[in-house]
Amino acid sequence: MRRVITYGTFDLLHYGHINLLRKAKQYGDYLIVALSTDEFNWEAKHKRSYFSYEQRKMLVESVRYVDLVIPEENWEQKVSDLHEYHIDVFVMGDDWKGKFDYLKEQGADVVYLPRTPQVSTTQIKQNLSNIF
Ligand code: CTP
Repeated sequence: MRRVITYGTFDLLHYGHINLLRKAKQYGDYLIVALSTDEFNWEAKHKRSYFSYEQRKMLVESVRYVDLVIPEENWEQKVSDLHEYHIDVFVMGDDWKGKFDYLKEQGADVVYLPRTPQVSTTQIKQNLSNIF
């Protein structure tokens, strides 16, 4: 069984996220999403999500391609996650291209998938604030 992991906030779940999760699942049989906690988003990324961690977790768990959701609490946990969850493939969108190549040393394949054009959580928030 090939195990795949990806990381992200997945706030206001949109079709770009679904594309990413569908393609990630094609690299294996079991897909884990490490979902950024509210604290990690705020402290490390200076972003506040619209939906809370528990709300985002419920949404991501409902996606048919996703087998398990775990919390992403810091930048460093990736190495230990790879070992703890016996990960074969690490997948990220190509906005992170090259940033996680060091994980290959841990024995995982590292794959960057092309982002779906013209949709992002930030864009949705901006568009909605212009409309309403
Ligand atoms: N993603 C994607 N295509 C998009 C938007 C996101 O493939 N159009 C991918 C990202 O590359 C990442 C995952 O979805 O691997 C989660 O991304 P996230 O940052 O949570 O979503 P964004 O919409 O990019 O959010 P933001 O605008 O806040 O950066």
